[in-house]
Amino acid sequence: MESPSLPMTAKGWTTTSLHRVFAMKGGEDDLSYVNNSDSQALAITLSKPILISSLQSIKLFSDQTSPIRITDLGCATGSNTFDCVDTVVQTLRRRYTAVYGGGSPEFEAFFCDLPSNDFNLLFKLLTEKQRVHSPEKYFAGGVAGSFYDRLFPRGTIHVAVSLSALHWLSQIPERVMEKGSRTWNKGKTWIEGGKKEVVEAYAEQSEKDLDDFLTCRKEEMVKGGVLFVLMAGRPSGTSSQFGDQDTRAKHPFTVTMEQAWQDLIDEGLIDEETRDGFNIPAYMRSPEEVAAGFDRCGGFKLEKMEFMKVIEHSDEKQEEWKKDPVSYGRFRTNSVQAAIRPMVDAYLGPDLSHEFFKRYENRVSTNREFLHITCFYGVLVFSAIRI
Ligand SMILES: C[S@@+](CC[C@H](N)C(=O)[O-])C[C@H]1O[C@@H](n2cnc3c(N)ncnc32)[C@H](O)[C@@H]1O
Repeated sequence: MESPSLPMTAKGWTTTSLHRVFAMKGGEDDLSYVNNSDSQALAITLSKPILISSLQSIKLFSDQTSPIRITDLGCATGSNTFDCVDTVVQTLRRRYTAVYGGGSPEFEAFFCDLPSNDFNLLFKLLTEKQRVHSPEKYFAGGVAGSFYDRLFPRGTIHVAVSLSALHWLSQIPERVMEKGSRTWNKGKTWIEGGKKEVVEAYAEQSEKDLDDFLTCRKEEMVKGGVLFVLMAGRPSGTSSQFGDQDTRAKHPFTVTMEQAWQDLIDEGLIDEETRDGFNIPAYMRSPEEVAAGFDRCGGFKLEKMEFMKVIEHSDEKQEEWKKDPVSYGRFRTNSVQAAIRPMVDAYLGPDLSHEFFKRYENRVSTNREFLHITCFYGVLVFSAIRI
């Protein structure tokens, strides 16, 4: 069989057109985001007390004639977004009933993601869910666009949430793609353990993106509204993206991914330049970086911010996998594919992308170390009130 080669379209997307190809894996197969988002679900469960307490403490919007508008920014396709929107609707509905008796306003939820998201699946699952759980019924709409842009008319949103999404940057910083420059990310596809100049270029992009996100929400939200964000993040006072060795050793974007790219090069399937042109557009912010963003933007009162560790799977599961590392490799690779397969497919083409994830799976299945340390990742959770 002929070796897969680079498609004509390889590197056809540029750092700034990333939004046309970026999405979680749609559909409902083994690689899909709906079937590989348990760790994000766990993060939502852990952070829910902060969401509920911020909804409990806001002043109720007194004009009950217009609906309460909720948006989930970066909703993807699955049950996590419904779980969060249900929590918002239930919490506010109970409060309205307690304060005003039987009357509660109507609720409208806007599910927002990039245009390449599988919105068809989202609405199919929502319709099935609402048929069964009628009490949580609300009006729903989809909004295709970037949360780094304006998505709603001025002063119309009461509750904006964003879950496990804001660590994805709007683009790969252009400076890390400039061949031969000090900021060129040569030999790597991400920033962990990378050159100071590369990390700084990512930090700068992250700052600009956070400013754009907050400025847009400031315009769209009503005064007194709640902004709740859960995103991959790092602890206070750390410069490393993961803040400690355990997380770093475990994270899919670091050592194993770099090894899989190197495997493709060593086997002559791609050249170094192809690997060097690929970068993961993600950045884990620290609490200080988030607080500074709110200070620059104004218009919000930051109420709570916490760093949390999310353990990715149970001890029982870990024991099972120790006996069957191949299943572990498959599980891990499916989760990574759910998040970045569309991006790697668009870059390498489906055949080489398949080869890449095969190397990745092989690396994970044969690395015994992974199953002998607790695997977690860090998230930053914060809530703010629009003032
Ligand atoms: C890891 S998924 C999280 C999905 C869901 N919120 C959850 O918690 O399961 C991240 C989502 O953010 C979306 N996303 C990333 N950048 C975005 C942007 N600039 N605008 C809108 N959505 C974006 C991705 O397409 C993806 O669906």
